[in-house]
Amino acid sequence: MSTRKRFVTNPGGRVGGDIRVPGDKSISHRAAMLGAIAEGTTEVRGFLEGADCIATLDAMAAMGIGIERPGAGIVRIRGAGLGGLRAPSAALDLGNSGTSMRLLAGLLSGQDFETVLIGDASLMSRPMERIAAPLRRMGADVRTNEGRPPVAIRGGPRLKGIAHHLDVPSAQVKSALLLAGLQAEGRTSVREPAPSRDHTERMLEAFGLPIERAAGEVAVAGRARLRATRVDVPGDFSSAAFFIVAALIAGRGPLTLRDIGVNPTRTALIDILRLMGADIRVQNSTEAGGEPRADIEVHPGRLRGIAVPESLVPAALDEMPVLFAAAAVADGETVVSGAGELRVKESDRLAVMARGLADLGISVETRPDGLQIQGGTVRGGVVDSRGDHRVAMAFAVLGARANAPIAIDDVQNVTTSFPGFGILAQAVGLGLSESH
Ligand code: S3P
Repeated sequence: MSTRKRFVTNPGGRVGGDIRVPGDKSISHRAAMLGAIAEGTTEVRGFLEGADCIATLDAMAAMGIGIERPGAGIVRIRGAGLGGLRAPSAALDLGNSGTSMRLLAGLLSGQDFETVLIGDASLMSRPMERIAAPLRRMGADVRTNEGRPPVAIRGGPRLKGIAHHLDVPSAQVKSALLLAGLQAEGRTSVREPAPSRDHTERMLEAFGLPIERAAGEVAVAGRARLRATRVDVPGDFSSAAFFIVAALIAGRGPLTLRDIGVNPTRTALIDILRLMGADIRVQNSTEAGGEPRADIEVHPGRLRGIAVPESLVPAALDEMPVLFAAAAVADGETVVSGAGELRVKESDRLAVMARGLADLGISVETRPDGLQIQGGTVRGGVVDSRGDHRVAMAFAVLGARANAPIAIDDVQNVTTSFPGFGILAQAVGLGLSESH
C-alpha cells in the first residue's frame, strides 16, 4: 500500500499560461491491450505513465508480452496475436484501475487459461457483475465475490457472440464485450441508452478491424485479426478539465492547453461550462488514429449556476467532481441529476464531494443521482479525498478561491491518472504544496 499524501492549497492562486497535460488514460489502456493481441509491433507515443496504465502494461507483460519503454511516453509492444497470451504465474494486481480490470476480463474471456484479477481496497469494492453476467452468457467461466473482485476467469475457446443491451451507458462494459467478441464465434453487439466514450471502436478500426456502428449500437465479428499500428495518444481531456476550471475560476489571463483529445464522447464539460457563461475556445483541430485533438484556450470569467441538462451528463461523468468545484463558486444554484454512476467510481463521488464541499462552508444537498450546490464563499479547512484522484484534484483547484488554506488528505492516487499534477499546478500559478 502506498503512503498517504496530502495537498495543501494556498488561496489566491492566479492561473494562466500555455501547457500540455499527460496522455489520455482510456486510449493508453486500449493501446496496451490491442497492441498485445495484434500481429506485429505497435509503437505508442504519449502513453500515460500513470499507475493505472502501468498496471495494464504489467498485466500484459505477466502474460508473456514483450514490452519496451525506450523513452518518456514511448512504449513498444510486441503483439502476440489473439491466441498468443500465456497464463500468468500469479493473480494480476490492477491497483486502483477499474478500466484495467473490466477490459481485461473481456479479453481474458477468450483465453484458454485461468486468471485471477485483484486490486486495491477501492477496486476490490467495485461492481463487476455488469461485466461478469454478459461474459458468462458468451460462454466464459467468470466468478466474482458476490459481484465484486476478485474476478476469476477461465476463458474458453468456444465463446459465442451475443447481443447485449446496457441499462446505463458504460464504455468499460461495452469494451469488455467487444474484446470478448473479437474472439467469439459470430457477431457481438452492444446497445447503449446514450453514447459512452468510443475509443475502443476507433482504435479497433486503426488496428485494421472493420466494425459495424449504427445509432446507439456497435458490433464486431468474431475470430478477428488485428494489425499492429502506431498510436499517438493526445492529452487527456479529463486531466485538462482541472486546469480548464482553474483558469475559469482563478485566471489571471488566458490558459492554453495544447493537443488535448476532444473526442465528442468526452467533452460535454465544455458545453456545460459554456451554459454557465464560460469563454472556452477550441482551436487548431487535427486528428490522429481516428481521434480528434485540438488546443483549448480558456478565458477567466464569472460562472452562473444552472440546471445541467441530463443529456450532457454521460459525456462529462468523470469531470463531475471538478464541475462541482466550479458550481461552488458560481453565482446561484447548480443542479446535477442523472449522475448516479458517480456512486460506484473510485469513491462514491456524490457523497465524498458533498461532504468536502460542506466542510468548506458550501451549501449542498445530496440526491440519489446528483447534487444541488449553492455557490458561495469557500472557507479553508480539511477535506478527505478518500483516495480518489479526481476528488483530490477538484479540491486542489477549488483551493485557489478559498479564503484560507485547504488541506486535502489521501491524495497519493493522483498519480493513477495524472503524474506531475502538483508540479504543473504550481507552474500555472495554483498555490499548492504536497506533503506526507
Ligand atoms: C472508462 C470508462 C468510464 C470512465 C472511466 C474510464 C474507459 O467508466 O468513468 O474513467 O476507459 O472505458 P464506465 O465505463 O464505468 O462509465
